[in-house]
Amino acid sequence: MTTLTPVLTKNWDTQGSFTLDGYGGDYAAARKAVGMDPDAIIQAVKDSGLRGRGGAGFPTGMKWGFIPQNDGKPHYLVVNADESEPGTCKDIPLMMANPHSLVEGVIITAYAIRANYAFIYIRGEVLHVIRRVMAAVREAYDKGFIGSGIFGSGYDLEVVVHTGAGAYICGEETALLDSLEGYRGQPRLKPPFPAIAGLYAAPTVINNVESIASVPSIVANGADWFAGMGTEKSKGFGIFSLSGHVTRPGQYEAPLGITLREVLDMAGGVRAGHQLKFWTPGGSSTPIFTAEHLDVPLDFEAVGAAGSMLGTRALQIFDETTCVVRAVLRWTEFYAHESCGKCTPCREGTFWLKQVLKRMEAGQGTEDDIATITDIGDNILGKSFCAFGDGAVSPIHSSVKYFRDEYLKHFEIGGCPFDPAKSTVWGVA
Ligand SMILES: Cc1cc2nc3c(=O)[nH]c(=O)nc-3n(C[C@H](O)[C@H](O)[C@H](O)COP(=O)(O)O)c2cc1C
Ligand code: SF4
Repeated sequence: MTTLTPVLTKNWDTQGSFTLDGYGGDYAAARKAVGMDPDAIIQAVKDSGLRGRGGAGFPTGMKWGFIPQNDGKPHYLVVNADESEPGTCKDIPLMMANPHSLVEGVIITAYAIRANYAFIYIRGEVLHVIRRVMAAVREAYDKGFIGSGIFGSGYDLEVVVHTGAGAYICGEETALLDSLEGYRGQPRLKPPFPAIAGLYAAPTVINNVESIASVPSIVANGADWFAGMGTEKSKGFGIFSLSGHVTRPGQYEAPLGITLREVLDMAGGVRAGHQLKFWTPGGSSTPIFTAEHLDVPLDFEAVGAAGSMLGTRALQIFDETTCVVRAVLRWTEFYAHESCGKCTPCREGTFWLKQVLKRMEAGQGTEDDIATITDIGDNILGKSFCAFGDGAVSPIHSSVKYFRDEYLKHFEIGGCPFDPAKSTVWGVA
């Protein structure tokens, strides 16, 4: 069985893990980094095989390498700490328990891409996390780890913690940039990509919290150490967030390529007396899986080949007591609410999906409604301005694929078969 590989989560259960002392270091990796050639750091991160932990899995070192050099422009580093996807819950505990791994990663990354300003954009609702990260940044300033001439080098860095205002779309990297500049957060047309024209139209790297927090361990232990974990194309470790109907939900840091069966074994299995019905490999934007996918290696390639996406490794577990139509309706209500409205397929499509699903869940639909939601989904998928649209369709298409009979059952009995009053139908209490 694959075992856990606690790196980012290693000190989470020690007292004061969020302080500099608790972090147990004097930022040795950052100290080492500012003595290195910035390009050597970029090369090390490329060699490590680290891929973005924010969902899309883009190679991190390659992204840094896109920043033009000697262009005379300021460069910026922006950390995406907006974490708002239903089910995704790794960056927030990471920032609460181990904020210094993020701050140290910020220093190394900013130095590598020759940026003198870095911004940490945190979801506005999580005040406790904002305070925690601000305290860590302050501690690092007080120690001289951030500011002018850090670690006695000629390198200057300012770090700003910026709070969002609570829109899921502001996690999309270009909407985040607009929000950071003070505009309404809506995605920008690409190209130009942020590496060329990002924050204030200057070259910008945007990375997820976990991606950046992983960097100090790579500098400290070497690219080979990191690349020695995981699978051929999905290297290293990642935090798998197990939630829902499980005995011991929580954060399981493990090599990429672990299976849900293995994670569930470590977590005591599905809650007592129940069976796995469906699950998400990477949050609500990733097509659902069923028990037949328990042995799919959780890496970018295998999950993709099986018809979903690794996303943010948000493993939401639903047992046989859950109505899949109801779950899909809940997610769709979220997407309809959070659609930024910039493009028609997503703005109108998510609205109509919600309306139709409501009547389906209430047992007032017909078989034609399955064709209708599939068709609306087809008109959003690949036709929207940003990836939000595709994400909104994931639960729709995948639930129809695996649970068509359950949709039909709603129409047959004129209600939800999981309604206790109708429990005799499916034998579910
Ligand atoms: C609707 C939407 C929401 C997103 N939310 C987040 C988020 O909260 N955090 C995040 O890191 N990436 C989020 N992303 C992905 C970012 O656009 C971007 O790919 C990521 O921050 C890049 O970092 P990485 O390369 O380190 O993964 C979101 C994307 C979309 C389309
Ligand atoms: S897909 Fe949705 S969230 Fe993205 S730009 Fe269009 S309306 Fe906005």
